Amino acid sequence: KPPQITLGIESSCDETGIAIYHSEQGLLAHQLYSQVELHAEYGGVVPELASRDHILRVLPLIEACLEEAQLGAQKITGIAYTAGPGLMGALLTGAAVARSLAFAWQVPAVGVHHMEGHLLAPMLEQTQPSFPFICLLVSGGHTMIIRVDGIGRYRLLGDTLDDAAGEAFDKTAKMMNLGYPGGPIVSNLALQGNTDRYKFPRPMVDRPGLDMSFSGLKTFALNTWHAAQKTDAPQDLPQTQADICRAFELAVAETLTIKCKRALEQEGLNRLVVAGGVSANREIRAQLDALMAKRKGETFYPRLEFCTDNGAMIAYAGAQRLAAGQHNGLDFSCQPRWAL
Ligand code: KG4
Ligand code: ZN
Repeated sequence: KPPQITLGIESSCDETGIAIYHSEQGLLAHQLYSQVELHAEYGGVVPELASRDHILRVLPLIEACLEEAQLGAQKITGIAYTAGPGLMGALLTGAAVARSLAFAWQVPAVGVHHMEGHLLAPMLEQTQPSFPFICLLVSGGHTMIIRVDGIGRYRLLGDTLDDAAGEAFDKTAKMMNLGYPGGPIVSNLALQGNTDRYKFPRPMVDRPGLDMSFSGLKTFALNTWHAAQKTDAPQDLPQTQADICRAFELAVAETLTIKCKRALEQEGLNRLVVAGGVSANREIRAQLDALMAKRKGETFYPRLEFCTDNGAMIAYAGAQRLAAGQHNGLDFSCQPRWAL
């Protein structure tokens, strides 16, 4: 069987990610353009601006990828694009380019679920998890605990009932005027934070089951911040912000760790995969690593740059789908909401 070379296109939100994956040689090239600066002044992603910017970036990034891989376009054997979930206009931009190129190059195209891309991102690393495993998928839009028995064989065990973990990081940063996206900002400030000053709740850990809730933590942070602004001297407020970030981050990390431990016990598994933007978080990784060391189990993460949105994970997931004989016809559609 000749090797398959898949071009991956990710455009679901505010990053344009393009990559080329070779079925035998692995990842050949990946390029990313982040729109963070474009949206920063609005404190969040503006959908229409996102779509327009993807239009400008997709083709030049594809050309850059082909050049990086030193490949002619005629070598591409299939195209994968993110078909959802995400912002409709942004998704359609990537899908239309993917579909058009596939038509011009006479190769199949397949629409990929964005969260399946995240879930499979650790497969791009040197040591790969074998099936079955538990996956903690934590991003700006999702917080899910999934039992994974193979590619396409996913069983949702736990979900957030309200905000995603990343969303809670983003909102906590926003209400203290710290900027966007909040995850890395809160996490960096937390390094200077005092661990003992505030104790935040660990939502839903006393209840059985694997569901989670993060909107209460964000409100707890807001109330703590408002109270501190009345009592603290103005010159002490930056330290207070760091202390709140530290307490918030510890609460999210411990809550996720308790739920992962419970999922592993329930399913009788000892392999944990952690993926999605929030899996870049230092404290969360430290607590999960400690849990798995104690259990003598294994933990797998994507490399840091593939935790957040990227084209490599879409190229990889799409390559698996195409290898299984799946592809979409000439008509294409995107699904802004789409269960995994
Ligand atoms: O996976 P991703 O790039 O996009 C979605 O599919 O949502 O995840 C973005 C999310 C944002 O909420 C961002 O604040 C969060 O991941 N994030 C982090 C860190 N880096 C990114 N959260 C906590 N700690 C981090 N280091
Ligand atoms: Zn994502």
